[in-house]
Amino acid sequence: MDSIVIQGGQELSGEVPIAGAKNACLALMPATLLTDQPLTLTNAPRLSDIRTMTSLLTSLGAEVSSLQNGRVLALSSHDLTSHRADYDIVRKMRASILVLGPLLARHGEAVVSLPGGCAIGARPVDLHLRALEALGATLELRDGYVHATANGGLKGGRIAFPFVSVGATENALMAATLAKGTTIIENAAREPEIVDLANCLSKMGAKIAGAGTTKIEVQGVDQLHGATHEVVLDRIELGTYMIAPAIAGGSVECLGGRIDLIDAFCERLDAAGLSVEQTKRGIKVSRKNGRLNAVDVKTAPFPGFPTDLQAQMMAMLTTADGVSNLEERIFENRFMHAPELQRMGAEIAVSGGTATVTGVARLKGAPVMATDLRASVSLILAGLAAEGETVVNRVYHLDRGYERVEEKLSGLGARIERMAET
Ligand code: EPZ
Repeated sequence: MDSIVIQGGQELSGEVPIAGAKNACLALMPATLLTDQPLTLTNAPRLSDIRTMTSLLTSLGAEVSSLQNGRVLALSSHDLTSHRADYDIVRKMRASILVLGPLLARHGEAVVSLPGGCAIGARPVDLHLRALEALGATLELRDGYVHATANGGLKGGRIAFPFVSVGATENALMAATLAKGTTIIENAAREPEIVDLANCLSKMGAKIAGAGTTKIEVQGVDQLHGATHEVVLDRIELGTYMIAPAIAGGSVECLGGRIDLIDAFCERLDAAGLSVEQTKRGIKVSRKNGRLNAVDVKTAPFPGFPTDLQAQMMAMLTTADGVSNLEERIFENRFMHAPELQRMGAEIAVSGGTATVTGVARLKGAPVMATDLRASVSLILAGLAAEGETVVNRVYHLDRGYERVEEKLSGLGARIERMAET
C-alpha cells in the first residue's frame, strides 16, 4: 500500500485545477441503464471509484469506454446481460446501490447486494427501498441481496423522505423518470449533484421540475434517449484545496471554483479570518498574517456545511486561536481523523457527535493512518503545516476521491511525494 510523505512548513501559491465531481459522476453513470442509446459524460474525474462503477456496469453487460485519458466516459447499455450487482463489487463502493432504481425502471427487475456499512457508519439503504416500493416495486431481502421486481413497470407515486438522503433521492429520481404517471419526491436532497443528475436526465428526455429544491416532480415518459453531459465541478475537492493555503499559509486560486457550490463552507472560512474571493477563473483563498480564528461548525444537508468537508476543517482548526466545536450531524462515526491528528499534537476532545478542538501553536509531523477518504486528505492537509515529516499510510482511500493529490499539492509548492510500497 502506497504512502504519502510530506515535509511541513512550505507556504503555498499558484493555481490548482478542480476535477469533475466524484459524487455526481457516480450517480450519472448508472443513468446509462435507463436507455439503450449512448450516454457520454465529459469532465469525468479519474478516480478508483469511477473504475469500480465501470466494472459494476460492465458486469451487467453495459459498455463503458474511457476516452481522452479518462476525462470522457462513453456508456451504452444496449444489450444488458444481467441485472445482478454482486456483493464483491458493491462492498467496495456503496454508491453501487444506485444501479437499483435504473435497473428496476427499465428492466422491471434487479438483484443488488446490500452495501453493508463502512468506516463512517452503518449507512443503511432503507430509504432507497421504501422509495422504490412507493413506485410499485416489490422488494424481498434474501441472502444479503435486495430482490426487486416491478411487474408491469413502475408507477408514479408520492415519496416523502423522513430525512434527507442524497443517494435515496438519486435512486428515486432515476426510477421515476420511466414510471407511469407523476412522482412527487418530498424532502428531497438539494445537493448540486442532484441538480446535475436532473440536468443530465432532462437532456435524456426526462420531465423533471424542482431539482435543487426540497420538492421534485417527475412526469414519467415511455423511454429516454442518449445525451452528452459535462459532470459538474467537485465542490468537495474544491473545498479541500481551499483549506490547503488556510493551513499552510499563502494564496491559492482553485480553477473553476464557484462560491455558490459551497456557500456555507466559504462563510466559515471567512469567519476564521481567511480572504475568499470569487475571481473570473475560480476561487482565490489567501491567508493573512497571524493565526486563524477558532470557529464552530455544524454539518448539514445542502445548503448547510458539507459533512465531506468536516475532517478537512478540523485539520485547519487544530492550530486556530481558541476553541472550535465541530458537530457532525450526518454520520454517526465520522471523527476517525481525530485520534490521528492527536498523534500530531492536536488537542481534540470527542463526545458523541461533537468534537471540541483547542488550537495549539503548531502540529508536529508523525506517521499517521488513513481510515476513510476524507480523513485521509485531512491528514495530508495537517502535514502541510506540521513541523517535520508526516507519513500518511493506506492512501488507497485517498485515490478513491482525489486525482493525483501529491502532484496537485507539489504544484502549489508543497514538499510532498508518494512512496510506492516496496
Ligand atoms: C452521499 O452518500 C455521498 N456519497 C457521501 O460522500 C456524502 O457524505 C453523503 O451523500 C452526504 O452528503 C455519494 O454521493 C457517492 P445519504 P449517501 O444517503 O447518499 C442515512 C464521500 O466522502 N441514511 O445522504 O450514502 C445515512 O446513514 C462520501 O464522498 C439512512 O439512514 O448519504 C446518513 O447518516 C461519504 N438510510 C444520512 O442518512 C438510507 O436509506 C445521510 O446519508 C440512506 C441514508
